[in-house]
Amino acid sequence: MKNNKLTDSLQLVIFGASGDLSQTKLIPSLYKLFKRGRLPEEFFLLGADHHFENRAEFLRNLSETVREILPETFETALWEKFAKKLNYLQIDFEDEAGYKELSRKLDKKEKSYRSSRQRIYYLATAPGFFPLITEKLDNFDLAGSDGADWPRLVIEKPFGYDLESAVEFNSKIYRVFPEDNIYRIDHYLGKEMIQNILTMRFANMIFEPIWNKNYIDNIQIISTEKQGIKSRGKYYDKSGALRDMIQSHLLQMLALIAMEPPENMATESILQEKIKLLKSLAETPLLNLEDNLVLGQYSKLERPEKYIPGYQEEDKIKPDSSTETFAAVKFNINNLRWRGVPIYLKTGKRLEKKNTKIFIQFKSDFHPSFLDNNEPEANLLIIKVQPREGVSLQFNAKKPGSQNEIVPVFMDFCHKAPRDLQSTPEAYEELLAALIRGDQSLFTHWKEVKNSWLFIDQLREFIDTREIKPEKYLPGSSGPESMTRLVARDHRQWWDDAALEEQEENL
Ligand SMILES: NC(=O)c1ccc[n+]([C@@H]2O[C@H](COP(=O)([O-])OP(=O)(O)OC[C@H]3O[C@@H](n4cnc5c(N)ncnc54)[C@H](OP(=O)(O)O)[C@@H]3O)[C@@H](O)[C@H]2O)c1
Repeated sequence: MKNNKLTDSLQLVIFGASGDLSQTKLIPSLYKLFKRGRLPEEFFLLGADHHFENRAEFLRNLSETVREILPETFETALWEKFAKKLNYLQIDFEDEAGYKELSRKLDKKEKSYRSSRQRIYYLATAPGFFPLITEKLDNFDLAGSDGADWPRLVIEKPFGYDLESAVEFNSKIYRVFPEDNIYRIDHYLGKEMIQNILTMRFANMIFEPIWNKNYIDNIQIISTEKQGIKSRGKYYDKSGALRDMIQSHLLQMLALIAMEPPENMATESILQEKIKLLKSLAETPLLNLEDNLVLGQYSKLERPEKYIPGYQEEDKIKPDSSTETFAAVKFNINNLRWRGVPIYLKTGKRLEKKNTKIFIQFKSDFHPSFLDNNEPEANLLIIKVQPREGVSLQFNAKKPGSQNEIVPVFMDFCHKAPRDLQSTPEAYEELLAALIRGDQSLFTHWKEVKNSWLFIDQLREFIDTREIKPEKYLPGSSGPESMTRLVARDHRQWWDDAALEEQEENL
């Protein structure tokens, strides 16, 4: 684990500082960190890309965006103070002259700093630029330093397209930056409830003894979105739900839920256990995929009052595209703890609601006297990631006033008031703070990425060899019809169903 002290000086270079991610998430998060005194005293941000002519234009646009994104937090006087720390360099990522100027600017600034070369290079660009920018940083001697911890390189997902491309991409980056200095973003890891999973599991005696195949019937990790692909067509059509969501966010959540207890809570120990889990997952053959995998693609919705384009009509999407916008898969983890416990993952776009939840369903075994008429419901632990954060536990109680009627009730721990968190900067704020501290625990290691791709590649191979086409579903629905069969075949149900949600949310 790295030193967790706040560093004294920092130069943060954001490549792609005018892009959507930087303007709506990264820079608003940095502003909030500044407001809370969580940025180093000597802090300097340099935005680098080709979009704006100069600093004034960059700042004008940025302040408008941040004001819109953070209506309650934005204070003009404070923003002006923060803006003094922001600079801009118009640069073409492919053009050598820009890197020369970048080097000159960074060196000049550091002359007045207490520490030199404490730099972070954040690649908020299309993934195709990652190897190129890294190579140029090396060519212009921008990557080396005296201290082992610096400079740091931050890369956004996706880390490749499959295992082969990820290996190639990683080996190019490794030529310049060592693993310890690479911070791979999976923004779900910045979410409060995700960080809370290990505390919940290992700081509560009531869960860990029953966290295994003897007591758990199945695990469901579900992340659905109401929105379509927005303006990300070019990226999404080559990616799809398996690569975009399951390879990263859903498998990361699974790793935290299913890993063995780490030796201690240090980053290195947690990482070792996550890697072991993902490795055993990658090594477990995926069986009966014809029954256990469902792919879907949203069709258009044509109503007098509303028209929603289908996926194939979206901008930059091929009209005959067979990219999946929905995926559900069932599998097992072949280790002592989980052998035989079905894991169900489900994700999709343009569905009825935005919802990320983890459901742990416990086995049902009741006293015989409760089995006569209304059989009790299974106990269910729900970890709510977004839009609400919290945990609730469903258990059975006697209906007040009745003689022996049993009803399921919820015990709820709600972390935040209802609020849409996915596109707000909170997760990035946590990630940026960890990055500045040099804390790798919220970032993904290459070995996690590699094993996740091994898992996805197995699914892709099945899909590609069988030429499986996604099943259509209507925008606003719960997904393609076959997804119900996926669980009904096992006499189970998806737990994100409307009735349960309503019951639980009306607490
Ligand atoms: N946006 C999100 O919410 C989000 C979420 C998760 C992950 N990500 C990942 O984050 C990364 C950035 O996403 P984004 O949506 O912010 O991308 P983006 O909007 O396309 O931003 C990229 C920026 O780089 C500039 N640029 C493109 N080519 C350039 C070149 N040759 N030289 C200099 N500048 C160039 C673009 O300027 P022009 O527009 O003028 O070309 C733009 O300002 C991607 O890897 C994406 O997958 C994004």
